[in-house]
Amino acid sequence: MTGEWLDAWDRTDGARRAADLFRSRFGEEPDGVWSAPGRVNLIGEHTDYNGGLCLPIDLPHRTYVALRNRDDDVLRLVSEREHAMWTGTSDQVHPGAHLGWAAYVAGVAWALNQSSDADLSAVAPDGRRSPSGARVGGFDAAVASCVPYGAGLSSSAALESAVAVALDDVDDLGLASSDAGRAVLAAACVRAENEIAGAPTGGMDQSSSLRAQPGHALLLDTRDGTVQHVPFDLSAHGLALLVIDTRAEHQLADGQYANRRATCEAAAARLGHTSLREIGAGADLEAALAVLSEPGDVEAETTVKRVRHVVTEIARVEDFVALLDGGLVAEVGPLMDASHTSLRDDYEVSCAELDLAVTVARASGALGARMTGGGFGGSAIALVESGSVDRIATAIADAFDAAGFTSPVFLVADASAPADRDAD
Ligand code: GLA
Repeated sequence: MTGEWLDAWDRTDGARRAADLFRSRFGEEPDGVWSAPGRVNLIGEHTDYNGGLCLPIDLPHRTYVALRNRDDDVLRLVSEREHAMWTGTSDQVHPGAHLGWAAYVAGVAWALNQSSDADLSAVAPDGRRSPSGARVGGFDAAVASCVPYGAGLSSSAALESAVAVALDDVDDLGLASSDAGRAVLAAACVRAENEIAGAPTGGMDQSSSLRAQPGHALLLDTRDGTVQHVPFDLSAHGLALLVIDTRAEHQLADGQYANRRATCEAAAARLGHTSLREIGAGADLEAALAVLSEPGDVEAETTVKRVRHVVTEIARVEDFVALLDGGLVAEVGPLMDASHTSLRDDYEVSCAELDLAVTVARASGALGARMTGGGFGGSAIALVESGSVDRIATAIADAFDAAGFTSPVFLVADASAPADRDAD
């Protein structure tokens, strides 16, 4: 069989790896180890920056951070993936700085220092506050991760979220103990990603990593930041979620993502809305598309397609959740299929590898399949009967081989636990 399986590390092993790396590189004991999961989105793609709904679950695959507070403002960061140690000071961390992977760590500290004491106290009255604003100082950190990198499974959000709960703990901010506090940590992680790493992503990934619950999908309403935990236990229904990392890399992803986001924001503004969420499916959508449409104008017709995807996708999330609430998880397949078609044809963020994974999964008996995450490569998901996981994965791997694509990597996703402390 072609294709590999990527098992999640046992949490004890993951924590030990990060702590061992810390000891070997810094020659001291860490204050503790914290970890946070990658995520896979069930449905609701490219809706999070449009005030819409999305429905991720946390993966069992996590990023582990061993961290020790310092009493100066020096940051020293090491990772199993990077040979060199990153060393800097907190004044080097600001929008426009080119920090490489350190942006996802140092940026979280920066963003927490940007939040006002009043904002933090509103959700965590007992947390330690600093009148100077520098509530997070220097630290040493060592990172080990089994979240696949560049696979559209939120390795960056997992790193940010693990750092966020670590700093919350060692600096006594008191945020990680409540959902409202975790929403503040998620917002800091989004700022790190948007302003320090320079990636204009929405907030789904960080919210999932920090706010989801095991055994549940996270229904995130990005209009007001509220969440609902929707029971999602596939094994109880004899089902499994197969994740296919296509290992397709697309160089233009950053620009394409920003471009989609800008088109949506411009369309909402043109329609007099704060976001595309204000448009309902059905007649409301048809009326909006009629305003935006200019037959023969390629740009206007592209905007029509982008808006149609976002509005119909938000409706599909509502339909998906209604089926889960009704105990009808085996019936969500057609919604997954429709989501993929919309992402491929209207939002134009799929690629040949994702399309092949989805097509072969369905032809081999999957109940539904779609690309997941930002697209332009990355991963697809397929809802399959538990007994057919291996057979469907083999069919996909064989099809990739025949097409001359890089061998895919497979994992099975159970709705797992959010960011938390692992060990001392
Ligand atoms: C990436 C971004 C998310 C979201 C998805 C698409 O994963 O990080 O914020 O926009 O793409 O749904």
